[in-house]
Amino acid sequence: TNEIGRKQDFPIPAGVHAERVVSVKHYTDRLFSFRITRPQSFRFRSGEFVMIGLPNAEKPVFRAYSIASPAWDEELEFYSIKVPNGPLTSELQKIAPGDTVLLRQKSTGTLVNDALSPAKRLYMIATGTGIAPFASLIRDPDTYDKFDEIVLTNTCRDVAELHYGNELIEALRADPLIGELVAERVRYYPTTTREDSPVKNRITTLIESGQLFSDLGVEPLDAAHDRVMICGSLDMIRDVKELVEKAGLAEGSNAAPADFVVERAFVG
Ligand code: A2P
Repeated sequence: TNEIGRKQDFPIPAGVHAERVVSVKHYTDRLFSFRITRPQSFRFRSGEFVMIGLPNAEKPVFRAYSIASPAWDEELEFYSIKVPNGPLTSELQKIAPGDTVLLRQKSTGTLVNDALSPAKRLYMIATGTGIAPFASLIRDPDTYDKFDEIVLTNTCRDVAELHYGNELIEALRADPLIGELVAERVRYYPTTTREDSPVKNRITTLIESGQLFSDLGVEPLDAAHDRVMICGSLDMIRDVKELVEKAGLAEGSNAAPADFVVERAFVG
C-alpha cells in the first residue's frame, strides 16, 4: 500500500515522480480533466508537455500530456480524451482523488512563448484537447507581456465538448487579479462542426473564407502583426500550417523564434 492506504501493486520506477490526484472532472463520455500535486522540483514553461503514467504495471505506459495549468500554479492540470481501449486513458479515466499518477521529470515542447517573436496579436488555434497548452499560456502573465491581444479558437465536434474552454474563459474573466486585463485583451472564438452553435465550421474553412477575421473585426493574417500557435489533430495542424504559411508566416523554434509554432495534441 502507498501512503494513503490504497493498494499499489508495483513499485514506482526510478526517476519518476509519484503524485496524488487532487480532483477530477468529467465533461463528456470522451473528455475529462484532472489536477495532481506538483513536485517542488518540477519546473516547466507554460505550453510544454510532460510524460505521465499510472503505477499499474511493472513497466508503466507513459504518454505525452500538455500541462494545462500555468507555470506559476502549485498544482498540475491536464485535459484528456478517453480512448475506450487506449493503453493509458482506458485506465486513467477511472482515477479518483487520492490516487497516484506518475510524472516524468522533464517537460518539453514547442508551444512556448520563447519560440515566437513579440507581436500585436497571438492566435491560439485548437481542436479538441489541443486547447490544453493554451489553457496554460492564457493564464501566464508572460503571454500578456509579449502580445497585446490573444485570440483563442477552439473547434470541437459538438457544444458539450466546448465546455472546458468556456469554463476556462469564464474563470479568467472572473479572476480578481487579471479579469480586467483579460476582458480587454482575450478574444474567444469557439466553433463546432457536427452540431449547431453560433459558429458552425472548421477553423480551416473560417480562415480560408476570412470569416474568422471579419467576425473578430481584425485585419487578415500578416506576419507584420500576427503570431500563431496550433495544437490538435495531425490533419488539422497540417492544414492550418499550410494556410498560415500561405499568409507569409514562418515557423519558429526555441533556437530561432519566428511567427508560428505547431504541436500535435495527445491522441490515445
Ligand atoms: P469534423 O467534425 O469536421 O471532423 P476530433 O474530436 O476528431 O479530434 O476533432 C476535433 C475537431 O477538429 C472536429 O470539430 C473536427 O471537425 C476538426 N477537424 C478534424 N480534422 C480537421 C482538419 N483537417 N482541419 C480542420 N479541422 C479539423
